[in-house]
Amino acid sequence: MPVGPPPSPTADGSRVLLSGASGLVGGLVLDRLLAAGWPVLAPTRRPLALRHDRLANPVFDAGRVLRAGDRSLDTLLKGERAGVWICALGTTRAKAGGAAAFAAIDRDLVLRFAGIARRIGVRHALLLSSVGAHPRAGSFYLRVKAEAERGLAEQNFPRVDILRPGLLLGERSEHRPVERLAQRLLPLLHPLLPGPFARFRAIEAATVADAVVALVRAGGSGWFVHEYAGIREAAKRRA
Ligand SMILES: NC(=O)c1ccc[n+]([C@@H]2O[C@H](COP(=O)([O-])OP(=O)(O)OC[C@H]3O[C@@H](n4cnc5c(N)ncnc54)[C@H](OP(=O)(O)O)[C@@H]3O)[C@@H](O)[C@H]2O)c1
Repeated sequence: MPVGPPPSPTADGSRVLLSGASGLVGGLVLDRLLAAGWPVLAPTRRPLALRHDRLANPVFDAGRVLRAGDRSLDTLLKGERAGVWICALGTTRAKAGGAAAFAAIDRDLVLRFAGIARRIGVRHALLLSSVGAHPRAGSFYLRVKAEAERGLAEQNFPRVDILRPGLLLGERSEHRPVERLAQRLLPLLHPLLPGPFARFRAIEAATVADAVVALVRAGGSGWFVHEYAGIREAAKRRA
């Protein structure tokens, strides 16, 4: 796909709302969006170190926004406009402090952002989910991911792209020993994951970010799910 100036997804302009800009994938997406000329609205719970004239970084109180009935995130973003929303939010049970706290981020905060995105003009949503996300999955993590996907469907975005990567490969400052070990071992098993099992392969976070930025440019409407092969295919279109 030729690289040119970004299209204007709505008459309000081509601004992208990015949730999770301080994370591994979110940070890579942010760099790529800014390099490609997109204006970005990236609310985070801590100020980003990055400064850029096309980056707006309102800071919200994470503890407060998770309380039932709190509207502080809506208030913070009221009056903003965006055409596309990218969600790279997420945590782990260990980091969040338990199953309920994990679901409060990976489902509830995601869906809070989804509602706000719709209200500020977003027509195209891109959600980072996970391979294996399914309402009847054996894993709580994967059921929560599926609930976030299903909740997104209720917002009636004209276009939705769900990305379901496997284990992400990439450097993060945070210490996650189990993830680090899996990052070393899983790629060794890739030859054992052919055909339909290829979707469980580990994938570079940078490739996922490339795919996200390529998909931001996609027009049309519909509900699209991208797994390992689809993510790699989309990523090639960014180059
Ligand atoms: N890691 C994997 O191997 C893997 C595999 C498949 C799918 N995924 C999914 O892919 C997505 C991106 O993963 P990632 O590894 O890039 O994520 P990450 O590095 O852990 O970043 C997650 C983002 O969510 C934000 N966040 C977490 N808890 C928050 C809270 N309580 N309030 C506000 N913001 C909060 C983080 O903000 P702070 O920087 O302030 O913490 C950060 O911006 C996630 O949905 C993840 O579940 C990951």
